[in-house]
Amino acid sequence: MEAPQAQSALEERVKAGKLPRHVGIIMDGNGRWAEARGKSRVEGHREGSESVREVTRACRRLGVKALTLYAFSLQNWGRPAEEVAALMDLLREFLEKERAEILDNAIRLNAVGELEKLPHLVREPLEKLRADSAHHREMVLTLALSYGGREELLAAAGALAQRAATGELDPARLKPSDFEAALWTRELPEVDLIIRTSGERRLSNFLLWQAAYAELYFTETLWPDFRTRELLEAISDYQSRERRFGLTSAQLKPRA
Ligand code: FPP
Repeated sequence: MEAPQAQSALEERVKAGKLPRHVGIIMDGNGRWAEARGKSRVEGHREGSESVREVTRACRRLGVKALTLYAFSLQNWGRPAEEVAALMDLLREFLEKERAEILDNAIRLNAVGELEKLPHLVREPLEKLRADSAHHREMVLTLALSYGGREELLAAAGALAQRAATGELDPARLKPSDFEAALWTRELPEVDLIIRTSGERRLSNFLLWQAAYAELYFTETLWPDFRTRELLEAISDYQSRERRFGLTSAQLKPRA
């Protein structure tokens, strides 16, 4: 265990640097964390919920403006029914327990995905907190729930095709901003950093359009072990990178 002073020094350094405005996280490894301890997968998800709390708090403290968490994919509906039910219970518990802290800290709770597929026990507290926090501006916490990037792209393409069919939109003049405005994430800033835990190195249908220029950070740490320290390390790594957006390094240097 490292001394708390070392962590707070790292936090100060990270805070003084250029922060990502929007961080997305693929929270992976709950099952393996549990298996390694002889526990049930559900216990891994429960411990993972603690990481969600801690990482959200740390982002708010640092001044990260948007945090998007991949909490349940459309493909996750195919998991064993007991695991799906336990995840829904954990989501409801999170929305109920964190409600006061989210409201007290001026955080806007948001969700993206095919939300109509969620059971009432999740939708009800989700919609309530979403409405009650809609005016908050300090940070937006987005839960990607029943979410898939390809499905989001298909929905956007469908909506644009419909507008083209009515003559409202000229398909020959379609701009990236038109497409962005049709995505579920339309109100969110550009994603700067995507983190994936547990050693896997893929996007697994997460924010496919939005990932175009995001920095990717992969760590072996399993999600239940990913806490403030690990978040600070990820952001510190991000701060050491040069983002060129297709330009050259020389073009980015401010003129003397
Ligand atoms: C992936 O780990 C994780 C998930 C499918 C669910 C993520 C859910 C949580 C962190 C808890 C609930 C969320 C909130 C917002 C309170 P895995 O099960 O695929 O792990 P494995 O690859 O090791 O089996």
